Amino acid sequence: MRQKIIAGNWKMNKDINETVELIDGVKSLYSTNLHSVKVIVCPPFPSLNVANELLRGTGIELGAQNMYHENEGAYTGEVSPKMLKAVGCRYVIIGHSERRQYFKETDDFINRKARKALTEGLIPIICVGETLQEREQNITHQVVTTQVEGCLQNIPGENVEKVIIAYEPVWAIGTGKNATPEQAQEVHALIRSLLSKLYSPDVASKVTIQYGGSVKPENAKDLLHQPDIDGALVGGACLKADSFIAIVKAAL
Ligand code: PGA
Repeated sequence: MRQKIIAGNWKMNKDINETVELIDGVKSLYSTNLHSVKVIVCPPFPSLNVANELLRGTGIELGAQNMYHENEGAYTGEVSPKMLKAVGCRYVIIGHSERRQYFKETDDFINRKARKALTEGLIPIICVGETLQEREQNITHQVVTTQVEGCLQNIPGENVEKVIIAYEPVWAIGTGKNATPEQAQEVHALIRSLLSKLYSPDVASKVTIQYGGSVKPENAKDLLHQPDIDGALVGGACLKADSFIAIVKAAL
């Protein structure tokens, strides 16, 4: 039985004071009856240290939104897995569609980061998903297959078991228009059968596959109770403690 995992991707939102406010809110609403659902928050880099201090002992985990695939060196503006671990991160989002779109990240680059994250003991949340144009051209399966294969290149099965894959159709991100539970389940099942072919049915059954794209308290329950949907990567709705925790509740 895969544990449900709800992660909040804060994106480029919340300064340090706002971070304290949001973390305090999430903490106060994350009651014991919700602890069977794993909760991860992914604030921007400058907030990670403070978030780590505030989250100590709460069971809520910390993730970053990006990293570089080296531990140190002349890479101006980049942040390494070693630095993320030192501020308490256990997770890191990799290959979000906004990074693919605005910063031209490729599957190959994402794969390098994912491998480095795993080597350093961080769990990568690897994002895949088709654009609206690709969906309309009926090439969703091809696109997602290429992305999953490319991002997992040279990652052995025992490491893939630890990876989280987030299926995030680009047309659903920040648009208020979520994939229907059936549309999402279809792609999640495709990803799981691909993992089964690439690795084994046993490995495939262990991998967490989250859905992301306009997840809100109103649609979360239906999405989260599909057989192959193991959680959510939440953007907009994670910026308010009550809506984020309402999504966590929907995962019960
Ligand atoms: P959204 O973002 O929930 O605001 O659509 C999801 C994401 O980009 O991870």
